[in-house]
Amino acid sequence: MSKKGIAIGIDLGTTYSCVGVFQNNRVEIIANDQGYRITPSCVAFTDIERHLGDAAKEQIAQNPANTVYNVKRLIGRKFDDPALQKDIKTLPFNVIQEENKPLISVTYKNTPTRYNPEQISAMVLGEMKEAAEAYIGESVTDAVITVPAYFNDSQRQATKDAGAIAGLNVLRILNEPTAAAIAYGVHKKTTEPKNILIYDLGGGTFDVVVLCIDNGDFEVRSVGGDTHLGGEDFDLRLLDHFVKEYARKNNNTDISGDARAMQRLKKACEKAKITLASSEKANLDIDSLFGGNDFHSSITRVRFNQLCIDLFKQTIRLVGGALNDAGLKREDLDEVVLVGGSTRIVKIRDLLTEFFDGRKLNMSMNPDEAVAYGAAVEAAVLVGDIPEKEVFLKDVAPLSLGIEIVGGYMHTIIKHNTRIPTKQTKRDFTTSMNNQTNLNIQVFEGKRKMTQDNHLLGSFILTDIENALRGVPSIDITFHLDSDGILQVSAED
Ligand SMILES: Nc1ncnc2c1ncn2[C@@H]1O[C@H](COP(=O)(O)OP(=O)(O)OP(=O)(O)O)[C@@H](O)[C@H]1O
Ligand SMILES: [Mg+2]
Repeated sequence: MSKKGIAIGIDLGTTYSCVGVFQNNRVEIIANDQGYRITPSCVAFTDIERHLGDAAKEQIAQNPANTVYNVKRLIGRKFDDPALQKDIKTLPFNVIQEENKPLISVTYKNTPTRYNPEQISAMVLGEMKEAAEAYIGESVTDAVITVPAYFNDSQRQATKDAGAIAGLNVLRILNEPTAAAIAYGVHKKTTEPKNILIYDLGGGTFDVVVLCIDNGDFEVRSVGGDTHLGGEDFDLRLLDHFVKEYARKNNNTDISGDARAMQRLKKACEKAKITLASSEKANLDIDSLFGGNDFHSSITRVRFNQLCIDLFKQTIRLVGGALNDAGLKREDLDEVVLVGGSTRIVKIRDLLTEFFDGRKLNMSMNPDEAVAYGAAVEAAVLVGDIPEKEVFLKDVAPLSLGIEIVGGYMHTIIKHNTRIPTKQTKRDFTTSMNNQTNLNIQVFEGKRKMTQDNHLLGSFILTDIENALRGVPSIDITFHLDSDGILQVSAED
């Protein structure tokens, strides 16, 4: 452990990252060397150097195969994960596999080079660390890093590893909506507990949490979300729309195989989407998009909404689920708080307003910075710069955790929405065959009844079980879920 000094809070986003620090009794969101308060989570490799952030994103159309972004969609996932398989079809850089884990393959300084997602995320974290150090004027190692509340065990562990690779001492892996809740509630003195719902729709992920805030107590009641739903998906819907339009207008010419054209068009799609937050219609004008032809088109807000409505509605369904899990009704909520860049989409706000019967949504927080702000506050709490009573977190496990029992059933040991940290033991787990001395214990994550419908986290073999008839040995299996939401399993005969 490093000596207690200044600690930073980093929001490691799918599309943008942001860093904050608590100093002189206030949080400062730190601008990067280009002067921007958010930095694209993007790394580019060229013949001569490595670019990060804005510089990397700027050159993407010239260098699509060696410009890496969206790694938050890859980190901690297995290569055969269907979501990952779908993503790599749309990513312009090469993703290969090693032992069923994704590896990013680029050419750097004329040499084929491979990185795992943790290493790429570490480069982004390193950039944020450097920006903080330049601002603070001294080196920084202690940091809180945020992850989507709905991130699973391996995604959390991999993010923590990325922090270590970047030379950071990760004080805490903090849930993004919880961080946003801290940003919302830290300066509010309340006379009675308030029920808050945080709706966080970013570039790659969606989270919803219901929590109760009471004078510095932040008690999370329920968590819901989708770690694969965000602004990127809306951009891809637009991209697909315009690729089809291009084909229709140009004798069925398919431009989807041209990485440079696709990157330029995708960038224009994101820009159009952003324009549609304030205008009913957006124009796209791209010179010499394909085969020397310019591309001029437009899209209305109504059409954009049609293209994405199923995704928008999916978030509303998850909001309903989180409320149910918290045991609350819509009218029990004191505030519905929006964070994440994608909450600027008008239709999302409309759907939420409708769902909450016309209630006014709270959009008082900076949607791009709230998570880093809260992370900076929590970092200050963890190094003792802010008294714990001012921000006392009670977070929960997003997913149920358990083991497989005879018949392929899931035996849940830690139920989702259980307060963390927690330690729970399944007693009298036993053998299914006579004289069985080894037992394969498979650990799963998920809410479904059968383990085959849940996510296998890992397995281990318990050896040297007493030689006895089946059902006689008595084994205790203990799950310890720490404050980062990371699981450790132990078993004892
Ligand atoms: N005015 C706008 N209208 C629609 N979308 C917007 C607007 N402004 C920003 N966005 C989108 O918000 C997303 C970025 O939001 P944010 O920075 O909260 O995400 P992130 O932290 O990178 O991702 P995540 O939290 O999902 O990992 C991008 O997809 C961006 O296009
Ligand atoms: Mg975010």
